[in-house]
Amino acid sequence: MNILAIESSCDETAVAIVRDGREVLCDCIASQVDLHRIYGGVVPEIASRKHIEAIYGLADQALQQSQLTRSDIDAVAVTYAPGLIGAVLVGVNFAKAAALAMQKPLIPVHHIRGHIAANYLAYPELEPPFLCLVVSGGHTMIVEVKDYTDMNILGTTLDDAAGESFDKVARVLGMPYPGGAALDKAAKLGDETKYTLPRSKPGENPYNMSFSGLKTAALNLIHHAEQVGEELDIPSLCAAFSAAVSDTLVPRVVLALRQTGYRKIAVAGGVAANSRIRADILTAAKELGAEVYMPPLSLCGDNGAMIGAQAFYEYQAGNIADMGLNAYATKSILGETL
Ligand code: KG4
Ligand code: ZN
Repeated sequence: MNILAIESSCDETAVAIVRDGREVLCDCIASQVDLHRIYGGVVPEIASRKHIEAIYGLADQALQQSQLTRSDIDAVAVTYAPGLIGAVLVGVNFAKAAALAMQKPLIPVHHIRGHIAANYLAYPELEPPFLCLVVSGGHTMIVEVKDYTDMNILGTTLDDAAGESFDKVARVLGMPYPGGAALDKAAKLGDETKYTLPRSKPGENPYNMSFSGLKTAALNLIHHAEQVGEELDIPSLCAAFSAAVSDTLVPRVVLALRQTGYRKIAVAGGVAANSRIRADILTAAKELGAEVYMPPLSLCGDNGAMIGAQAFYEYQAGNIADMGLNAYATKSILGETL
């Protein structure tokens, strides 16, 4: 089954064609990152307009690259939630038009379910059940993937997402948007013991997390150094910050593996590209004898292929939309409107 998959929830317009949920025939991306960088973050209105400009040409390019014609496409899938609403609407409208014109089923895909499904592309042998640490720009949670479309959230951030806090600290340090990758790079040259940053333990649920206290502590440290004229050791601060984020995430993953008895842990989302988090997950999983699944960096960030992968399983579960499909800025990974 060849699925034409569309992703436009943030600042990447992406169109992919994925066969049977596992084989990527093409994965075309038009990134707007350079455009938004001058503003220090994504400008929603500009993002929507750029999606409109790019999406048709990208779909054409996807067919050409995979040497398919429209008649070879069996279904159209699209990210319908969550994301910048104007941006998601562009993808949803395009997907509806394409499905209608080709008379093919329309499959709605939750963006975060897509991130999790990136693991199916990287690991053809991976099947649920498994645990997944989802760490993206807008989401941070530990998900029990019971089946391809049956999930349970064990814990989530109660405030900022990990990616948001990486980006904020990077921005104040003068790094270009999105700063997570630049902060990660700088951290490799630093000494994490030079600065002390907090690790928070919010609420009763041991799997829940919080990053706003950590973010504020890092920002205060930077501003204080500026005020007293102290030279900041940026690589060491980046190393201390990355260590604190990882120390918030990884022990909860370990607890989840221990308590649930799962022996497979996957990671997903843009922040899953972080070298410190990847290294700590590998070490922890080795100690527990658990299998680790980490998509290559190209599949951690937003892409169309991950949407095509999840769409195959949504289709099998009967999750097909009609022309009334709407777009949602927020929606739980379990499908509830928030
Ligand atoms: O999943 P994603 O591409 O978009 C969302 O769905 O939000 O994640 C983007 C986030 C940004 O916050 C970006 O700074 C972060 O992923 N990111 C990283 C790294 N690479 C990307 N954060 C930390 N370390 C990295 N190496
Ligand atoms: Zn994403």
